[in-house]
Amino acid sequence: MNNLFMKASVLEAVNTPFIFKDVTKPIPQVNEVQVKLYAAALNHRDIWIQKGQYAGLKFPIICGSDGCGVITGIGEHADAKWLNQEVVINPSINWGDNSRVQARDYTILGLPENGTFAQYVCVPEHLVHQKPAHLTVQHAAAIPLAGLTAFRVLFSRAKAIAGETVLITGAGGGVALFATQFAIAAGCRVYVSSSSDAKIEQAKQLGATGGANYKTADWNKTLAKESGGFDVIIDGAGGEGFARLTDLAKPGGRIGVYGATQGNWNSGIPARTFWKQLDILGSTMGTPHEFVEMLNFVSKQRIVPVIDSVFSLDETETAARYMDGGNQYGKIVIDIES
Ligand SMILES: NC(=O)c1ccc[n+]([C@@H]2O[C@H](COP(=O)([O-])OP(=O)(O)OC[C@H]3O[C@@H](n4cnc5c(N)ncnc54)[C@H](OP(=O)(O)O)[C@@H]3O)[C@@H](O)[C@H]2O)c1
Repeated sequence: MNNLFMKASVLEAVNTPFIFKDVTKPIPQVNEVQVKLYAAALNHRDIWIQKGQYAGLKFPIICGSDGCGVITGIGEHADAKWLNQEVVINPSINWGDNSRVQARDYTILGLPENGTFAQYVCVPEHLVHQKPAHLTVQHAAAIPLAGLTAFRVLFSRAKAIAGETVLITGAGGGVALFATQFAIAAGCRVYVSSSSDAKIEQAKQLGATGGANYKTADWNKTLAKESGGFDVIIDGAGGEGFARLTDLAKPGGRIGVYGATQGNWNSGIPARTFWKQLDILGSTMGTPHEFVEMLNFVSKQRIVPVIDSVFSLDETETAARYMDGGNQYGKIVIDIES
């Protein structure tokens, strides 16, 4: 192929498939580096964008927030030390100076800027970090967005500490799985909820103490009895089930909220929330400092992300439909080189 072009999986409009095609290869601008991607990974965000259920849509767009690759180009003022280094990319762009909340011009790699479902991507130099040495490129590519989200909501917002009892809802989700691995590594006593008994068993293999199937009628009562209640609950589902989480929290408990896969909270129990002095803590992505802390934690604890399946770049649409089906346990990775 001509050196001016590359292969990418492109979304050209709402509710259309990812199209594998030739597009112009990006050239690094001032303070940017060019990354030749080895592997990318899917997040639910890519599906929301495809379905038109995400703010700030623009087309055509190369989605993909997670990537691991090698630096092949250096823009003006970027440090040449990065050339040939294997890196992971922090997808959090323009967080700003306030660690409590992102800046107004904050964005996430993969919309509005082109992302990692491509052979090359250009990003600001400060977003690239050395690949954790103990991980393969596919494992490293699985980390960025979900790992960062899980790290902030669990540790910075909900302040989970060793010895506390933690519930992670929707064990099969990408963020939920990192939250499970991180909480176990931090010495918490971890329970999960899931639509699948098999996924609960897989969480136990990772070190979770127990779990309950949220498709069963009294799952919360079973879990309350088994666990004795939760100091920390991490939820990405929202929806009708959220009210039960305020029941499950111990007095003084913290509920970290990072997603709304099941939609809005149409019910809730304010009295439980105030009488039990609960903290409900919203969390999105994380700061540049948290990204570095998360990578250090992953390296120190030798955490290996769980990969459910690997697709090639020309199979991105198949991978997206698979994620939409919700049957995965672990990250869905795109091997860019195959
Ligand atoms: N705020 C942020 O920065 C941020 C970052 C990443 C993701 N998110 C959001 O967080 C959500 C999850 O993202 P993801 O990429 O981790 O998605 P994902 O990998 O597709 O996971 C979705 C999971 O949600 C679980 N789920 C579905 N219905 C549920 C229910 N009623 N109760 C409990 N769990 C339920 C399922 O778990 P089981 O298969 O175990 O049933 C499913 O695997 C999405 O809404 C996404 O947009 C937000």
